[in-house]
Amino acid sequence: MYTLNNIKIIIADSYEQMSIDAAEIFLRQLSDKNDSIMGLATGGTPVGMYKELIKKYNEGTVCFSKMHAFNLDEYYPIKKTNDQSYDYFMKDNLFNHININFDNIDIPNGEADDPEKECDRYEQKIIEKGGIDFQLLGIGLNGHIGFNEPTEAFSSKTNCVNLQESTIKANARFFETEEQVPRKAISMGIKTIMMAKKIMLICSGANKADIIKKTIFGPITPMVPASVLQMHRDVTFVLDREAAVDIESFL
Ligand code: GLP
Repeated sequence: MYTLNNIKIIIADSYEQMSIDAAEIFLRQLSDKNDSIMGLATGGTPVGMYKELIKKYNEGTVCFSKMHAFNLDEYYPIKKTNDQSYDYFMKDNLFNHININFDNIDIPNGEADDPEKECDRYEQKIIEKGGIDFQLLGIGLNGHIGFNEPTEAFSSKTNCVNLQESTIKANARFFETEEQVPRKAISMGIKTIMMAKKIMLICSGANKADIIKKTIFGPITPMVPASVLQMHRDVTFVLDREAAVDIESFL
């Protein structure tokens, strides 16, 4: 474990090892506090970690029945039945395979009539639950966390976001065509994320090496949303070697 600019860094040899290390940290949180409020993330990166959690559950060594899950974000608008919705993703990649209580799952509602109201409802529910104990994050190529895209100012609460062209293009790989990617999303805000007691960001692959370096060393700026994490009191990055290649000489 290394520390750079207030950020604890673990470097794993491969994507598989990154997933195992991240699952271990996640499960340590649950064993310390089995009713933890866990903030969860989507995207390609956490899939391996979720597989590892399922494996541990099948081995009978962990229990998710008291955990409460809040997802970071959801496309808008999108039907829950759409296999590219984050609602579908979370069930398919994790929730359907572990003993989480489905009443303890919160995901922004991509079917809400009024997205602004949905943002307020979601933020309020997180506050009512006492805030997030442990937030899992991935990172977009442009430094977004959740769906907080680079912009002029850090967003505070859960908000409705216009996706940037680069994000639409990056996420098009999951859809049949680029046109099918929703242009908006509902995302926890930067302040919502920063209020989490602990944060773990996972990242894999050479194409993210540059944004990882900017996040850790760059100025703290809303143009690189993840750079705000330098100001968090308990944040750990679990990276595979390829994603860490640009910071290795500083370790
Ligand atoms: C998506 C999600 C993020 C995720 C990011 C990276 O847009 N909203 O939460 O971290 O993209 O995704 P991937 O892990 O597929 O690179």
